Amino acid sequence: MCGIVGAVGVKSPRQYALDGLKMLEYRGYDSAGVGFLSDGIKIYKDVGSPAHLDEILPKDINTDVIISHTRLATHGVPSKDNSHPHLSMNKKISLVHNGLIDNFVELRNFLISKGYKFYSQTDTEIIANMLEYYYLQSKDMLKALEETKNQLDGSYACAIINEDYPDTLFMMRKTSPLLVGKGKGFNLIASDASPMVSYTNEFIELDDYEHGYITKTDIKVFDKDNKLVDKKVTIKDMETFSHDLKGYPHYMLKEIEEIDTVIKKLITAYYHDNKYQFDEDLLNDLKSSDHIIFLGCGTSYHASLVGGRLFENFNNISTTKYIASEWAFHPTFPGAKPFVILISQSGETADLIHCLDTIKKHNLNNLIITNTGGSTLDRNCRYSLLLHAGIEVSVASTKAYVAQVTLLALLAASLQNDASVIDDLKHCVTVVEDIQKNYKPMIQKVASELKDKTNIFYLGRSYDYFLSLEASLKLKEISYIHSEAIPGGELKHGPIALIEQDTPTIVFITDPETAASMRGNIEEVKTRGAKVYTIATKKLFRPEDTMMLEY
Ligand code: BG6
Repeated sequence: MCGIVGAVGVKSPRQYALDGLKMLEYRGYDSAGVGFLSDGIKIYKDVGSPAHLDEILPKDINTDVIISHTRLATHGVPSKDNSHPHLSMNKKISLVHNGLIDNFVELRNFLISKGYKFYSQTDTEIIANMLEYYYLQSKDMLKALEETKNQLDGSYACAIINEDYPDTLFMMRKTSPLLVGKGKGFNLIASDASPMVSYTNEFIELDDYEHGYITKTDIKVFDKDNKLVDKKVTIKDMETFSHDLKGYPHYMLKEIEEIDTVIKKLITAYYHDNKYQFDEDLLNDLKSSDHIIFLGCGTSYHASLVGGRLFENFNNISTTKYIASEWAFHPTFPGAKPFVILISQSGETADLIHCLDTIKKHNLNNLIITNTGGSTLDRNCRYSLLLHAGIEVSVASTKAYVAQVTLLALLAASLQNDASVIDDLKHCVTVVEDIQKNYKPMIQKVASELKDKTNIFYLGRSYDYFLSLEASLKLKEISYIHSEAIPGGELKHGPIALIEQDTPTIVFITDPETAASMRGNIEEVKTRGAKVYTIATKKLFRPEDTMMLEY
């Protein structure tokens, strides 16, 4: 992912462009750049975070039109040349891009045949040059956008400036998110609402294949067939997008500490007046389906493993759970009446959006569970349930994962009208509060023991295995330490060879059915010299274990 920001007519363009990038840093942070119109196109960019950009960007920018970008490298290593904004060969056009152009080799060859030279390894430079190639033919930027859109395969959200249009910022979008913020005497764009909420609460979502432009006073959007569209303005509330760290050193810690509140909020949202509050049509459609396919990526896929099992337990319905990018290439839908549940914190993950094409083509009934109202998946799925977790800024999902599992538990229980889950979830809140209150010093001690290790393993069975997968992903994503989750029963089939003297092995024991087998696994890894940290529920806890969950 990358984050893009743009503005026309805003009072402090430098501040808007840099502050906006800081809020989008969760979308990538290996390089950053700013471009603006001031007697032609000016570009400042470098490897590093938006904070570094602040140091190299002149303090007194005089411009009406500005674009900025924070990058997660995909095509081309993180380098100054590969950073955005990219400039077209004749320096007419510059742009920032979030997405991936699938046919970039073909387009690059086409442009080379027309005399174009390239200075980066990115797919984005191709878009800048395609736009310039068509613009120089027609001297009409909207025509150039139409022609370029027709040529691009893949995903893109672009903010574009042209030196011949000193008052205008152009934009186009397919699959990657792009939002316009409507101001008074200024207009804004960004990958999500967070950079814009302190400037406006009125937003316009761009849909696939749309393009257009903003000036200080005007917003124009054209559809797939290049016809002017009258876009709906939605109101977003500022509190939902608040980036206030509230005294925490970083967002991940703040978001972990919000987990108890998130569970409580979800219970209130979906269960009150002694009954579940889900849409009757959704429940009826789920009940009449004979198979549920769960789709997600990363953390959301791990939530789907738990959710799928819960649905099987409560409803005796068969389920399959897929990593979205795998299903997209080989979609299978067993049963006569399959129902698809997509799970995504952001509602914007491209791999899931690709799946939506297949889902629509085969007319499969579907539901998105997301934290982001107004996102592409929220707007394009048949049913949508919101996680109400508040904005999750940290790249590593924590509170949204817990919200996903909680909401799946509520939905599965509502299909059976089983209210006992409400008490279980309230009990979970107590467990979380107990960890927050009593375990911080112990967690810090374990973290300091682990921080210089090179391999860390997690072990669990059944739900505890799903939990191990998520814990392992969190560890590797945040600490860059290699980590693997191993199902207890699989240990003997190969992975045990990786356990050496002092290899940290974190074991989850929360399920009475698998507890005895897990104790056996602990003995196995200890024989190899592993340093074991066991996290167990009260009833299954032993004095030698590391952490007791109040459950
Ligand atoms: C990845 C993130 O890029 O996207 C993961 O690194 C996240 O942490 C995954 O779980 C899926 O995101 P989403 O928004 O679809 O839940």
